[in-house]
Amino acid sequence: MHITEEVIRGQLAPRLIEWYHANARVLPFRTHSTPYRVWVSEIMLQQTRVSAAMEHYNRFMAELPNVSDLAECPEEKLMKLWEGLGYYSRARNLQKAAQVIVEQHGGQLPADYKALLALPGIGEYTAGAIGSISFGLPVPAVDGNVLRVFSRIYNDDRDILKPDTKKAFTQRVLDCMPKDNPGDYNQALMELGAMVCVPNGVPQCLACPVAGLCRGFAEGTAPSLPTKTPPKARKIQPVTVLLVQDAEGRYLIEKRKETGLLARLWQPVLFEEIITPEQAHKELEQKGIDAEFQTQGKNAKHIFSHIEWQMQCYCFLAKSCKLPDNMVWADKKQLKEEYSLPNAFKVYKKEMLQNDKG
Ligand code: ADE
Repeated sequence: MHITEEVIRGQLAPRLIEWYHANARVLPFRTHSTPYRVWVSEIMLQQTRVSAAMEHYNRFMAELPNVSDLAECPEEKLMKLWEGLGYYSRARNLQKAAQVIVEQHGGQLPADYKALLALPGIGEYTAGAIGSISFGLPVPAVDGNVLRVFSRIYNDDRDILKPDTKKAFTQRVLDCMPKDNPGDYNQALMELGAMVCVPNGVPQCLACPVAGLCRGFAEGTAPSLPTKTPPKARKIQPVTVLLVQDAEGRYLIEKRKETGLLARLWQPVLFEEIITPEQAHKELEQKGIDAEFQTQGKNAKHIFSHIEWQMQCYCFLAKSCKLPDNMVWADKKQLKEEYSLPNAFKVYKKEMLQNDKG
């Protein structure tokens, strides 16, 4: 029997919300929920799964419990708290927005969709999530999860990466929204997308509270939805990483440039090309560093959204010396506690923490 629009509009939200109340994961931003805590959670959860983000989240909240702490946090500390989450501009925008909130909103997030949207790093999704969850505003919060759920419920195979599709699906999200409980409704949709209506062809339809309202389930198309145009192939970038140790076992790290990929974060000495050990030796010499090639290190790969780094590595032993301004010798404790090395260098950071003699 055909599932009508009226039936979906009338029944989706109550069924979902009932399921959500019985099954929602217990998460720190739900049990202790303030607008600030919801905001930070939503920013962290963009591009990062709940399971991967919660340790960072709890540490972040312990260190920076309110908006003004975030506004005043030194950059190195902020980057350290974000270390491993990726997309570091999210953290920088979070801080910029905190400064605006202190200056223009008396330190409280505004209970207004347009005012939220005007803050750095807050787009329609985040403004919708904060507005509905924290302030009960009847606004949609449509991310990839919600688009997937709606493509299946309506058995709609339009490309969800197209703005027109997003607009049409957002209207449906609004049409089904109970205006007296938008926060639970939006979170229930996200939770369903994360736990049941999961991506990559394996939705758990038999455990789904709204399978009876789902045209994709009825017609057997749910696993192959949503439709997404395949993203453009990533550019491959060859990289040479130098692990340069001094006699005390400290490692040479350098601060990346002011703008662009991984701006102002720390890394081992690095060249965005393949070079030989002899060339590496010369490059170090030009920076005033007298170092001797020891061995080849591990190869590693890191995928950013638009580029893939294929890294080779050389290990050098150096005489301690005066360094250029953007470089330091870092011991194990500093590598752990002070300098933020992005996940792209996970393999090398592990190596540095193991081999360090200090
Ligand atoms: N992903 C992003 N925000 C979320 C939330 N509030 N609940 C569940 N998953 C989410």
